[in-house]
Amino acid sequence: MISRCSVSEIISLYIFSAWYWFVEWFSRLLWLRSGLAGQVFMRCEGKTALITGGTTGIGFETAKKLLSFGMNVIIGSYSSSAESEKCLQLLRSLYPKSKVEIWYVDLSSMDSVKEFAEKYLRSGLPLHILINNAGIMFAPYKITEDGLESHMAVNYFSHCLLTKLLLPCIKQSGNPKCKARIINVSSCLHFLSQIDFSDLNSL
Ligand SMILES: NC(=O)c1ccc[n+]([C@@H]2O[C@H](COP(=O)([O-])OP(=O)(O)OC[C@H]3O[C@@H](n4cnc5c(N)ncnc54)[C@H](OP(=O)(O)O)[C@@H]3O)[C@@H](O)[C@H]2O)c1
Repeated sequence: MISRCSVSEIISLYIFSAWYWFVEWFSRLLWLRSGLAGQVFMRCEGKTALITGGTTGIGFETAKKLLSFGMNVIIGSYSSSAESEKCLQLLRSLYPKSKVEIWYVDLSSMDSVKEFAEKYLRSGLPLHILINNAGIMFAPYKITEDGLESHMAVNYFSHCLLTKLLLPCIKQSGNPKCKARIINVSSCLHFLSQIDFSDLNSL
C-alpha cells in the first residue's frame, strides 16, 4: 500500500529540513572553532574506507574529504572504466599521499555485490569505515535479475548484503579505542510515504 502524503506532512518535512540545516551549520561552526576537527582527523591517517557510489555527488565529496584526512579509500562504482579512470586520476592528483582505487560493482545485482565483497576480503585490506552511499531515485519501474524492485535492490538490499559479507572484516578492523563504523546514507524523503512490508516490490 502506498499512501499519499498530506499537506501537513509536507510542511513538517520542510520545517524538519530547515531545523536540520540550522543545527548542522551551527554545530559545524562551533566544532571547527573548538579545534576538535584536528583531533578527529589525525586518527584517520592510514585507515581504510569503502564507499559505494563515490564517483559522483555526495559520495565523491565524501571520498575527497576522507582522502584529505589521509585515509585510503576504495570506491565501489558502476561507472564505465573510462569515467572511473578520469575520476581516479583527478583524486590521485588532488591527494597524492593517499591511496585510492575504484572497483566495479553493480548494486542492482546481488551476484555483483557478492563478487565485490569477495574481492575486498581477498585483498586483505582492513575496513575501518563502510559508507553505504550509492542510491537511485525516480528510476523507471524495473524488476532486477534477483526479482527485486530496482530502488529497493540498489538502495537497500545490496547494501544490507554488502554489510553482512564485510562485517567480519569490519569487526576485525576496529578496536575498543577506535571502533570501525558503518554509515548508511539515507534521505528524509521516506517521511513522505509508507512502506508495505508485506510487498516490498510495490513501491
Ligand atoms: N542529493 C540529495 O539531495 C540527497 C538527499 C537525501 C539523500 N540523498 C542520498 O545520498 C546518496 C547519494 O546521493 P547523490 O545525490 O550523491 O546521488 P548521485 O550523484 O546520483 O550519486 C549516486 C551514486 O550511486 C551510484 N549508483 C547508482 N546506481 C548504482 C548501481 N546499480 N551500482 C553501483 N552504483 C550505483 C552512482 O554511480 P554512477 O555515477 O556510476 O551511476 C552514483 O555514483 C543516495 O543514497 C541518496 O539517496 C541525496
